[in-house]
Amino acid sequence: MDPYKLRNDFPILVNGYEGREVIYFDNACMTLKPQCVIDKVKEYYTEYPACGGRSVHRLSSRVTTEFERTRDIVRDLLNAPSRDSIIFTRNTTEAVNLLANSFPFQKGDTVLGTDHEHNSNLVPWIEQMNRGRIRYLPVPSGPDNTFDLERYQEMVKGCRLVSMVHVANLDGSRIPEKEVIKIAHEYGALVFLDCAQSVPHMSIDMKALDLDLLAFSGHKACGPTGTGVLSGKPEVISSLTPFIIGGDTVAETDYDRVKYLDPPKRFEAGLQDFAGVIGLSEALLYLKRVGLDDIHEHELALNRACTRELKDLVEIIGPMDADKRSGIFPFRVRGMNSHDVAMMLDELSGIALRSGMHCVHSWYRARKEETSARASFYLYNTEEEIKTFIRTITDIVRDFGPVPG
Ligand code: ALA
Repeated sequence: MDPYKLRNDFPILVNGYEGREVIYFDNACMTLKPQCVIDKVKEYYTEYPACGGRSVHRLSSRVTTEFERTRDIVRDLLNAPSRDSIIFTRNTTEAVNLLANSFPFQKGDTVLGTDHEHNSNLVPWIEQMNRGRIRYLPVPSGPDNTFDLERYQEMVKGCRLVSMVHVANLDGSRIPEKEVIKIAHEYGALVFLDCAQSVPHMSIDMKALDLDLLAFSGHKACGPTGTGVLSGKPEVISSLTPFIIGGDTVAETDYDRVKYLDPPKRFEAGLQDFAGVIGLSEALLYLKRVGLDDIHEHELALNRACTRELKDLVEIIGPMDADKRSGIFPFRVRGMNSHDVAMMLDELSGIALRSGMHCVHSWYRARKEETSARASFYLYNTEEEIKTFIRTITDIVRDFGPVPG
């Protein structure tokens, strides 16, 4: 893949912002959108801007066909067990909320997470714990801040559900998914993976992994905002209780009785984000065309270059080995507030990245750690941009960093 060519597909990278070039390193939060996605959303609004799934007119049928096409594309991308167990949500957060509220827990069941969970995959479980439905336990990381498989093996015994972040937005660290799933199954637990930071960046094969449940967000995968997916094995999805309910989830109702539709429809209540889901199809096809293995390799190469040049200048959060951090470069400039660093990078070189606690407050608070800045790379980032980043950080450290000696 050639990132210099791919950049032409992204209007914001061609046009810049306020007359300046944009160096976009905030991809763990939100990716940019290629023209084909923008065109597809526009196509919906201009050519068939109707409601799918209800009326029998031709416009409505077209919407239904396009909407359901995205489900097929998701299934193909993930090698998901079944198209009917792919549920559209607004984002990963909504998918986890659906799962947490719908899973058929029995009193005393335990859910196991990691100490790297984003609030999306932590808050819904804490809430279930506070309501007395479950116990929730995070597996503490090992000394190098990576997943501790031995500790996991001890803690998973007797758990009902493992609900873990696949690649952490905090520091890019990745759990050993094959082992995690195999061990959980040996102990009779099901596994849900929050793949918000992995589905857009690497190949994931649900069937090969024997994965029970997975969620990701469209907006982190070149897709429209307000789109997400919960996918699972049909028997697991069928065991969930409907959560957000109402129009389009039911086969029939009386004043005192409801008969729900089969999955996925029973989980997709109300008028859907047709434009978003239809636009998502083009985003996923685009990623497939570029090649997810190549995207992953490209991000690692950028991260290696960044790590090599900056490791003695800034404090890196998470594993020092760039290969263990996917496309994420989390760092602190000693003696400086991370928001100041982020604002200076934007001001000096048009570099957009995120600073703060990255919605993983629990991790920072447990360690009494300062906030950090985070560069996160994607398919359109280039070596040139990395060089500008390194040069700008070097200038910031020289002018504002700690005084030597
Ligand atoms: N939006 C979250 C982040 O930026 C996932 O890390």
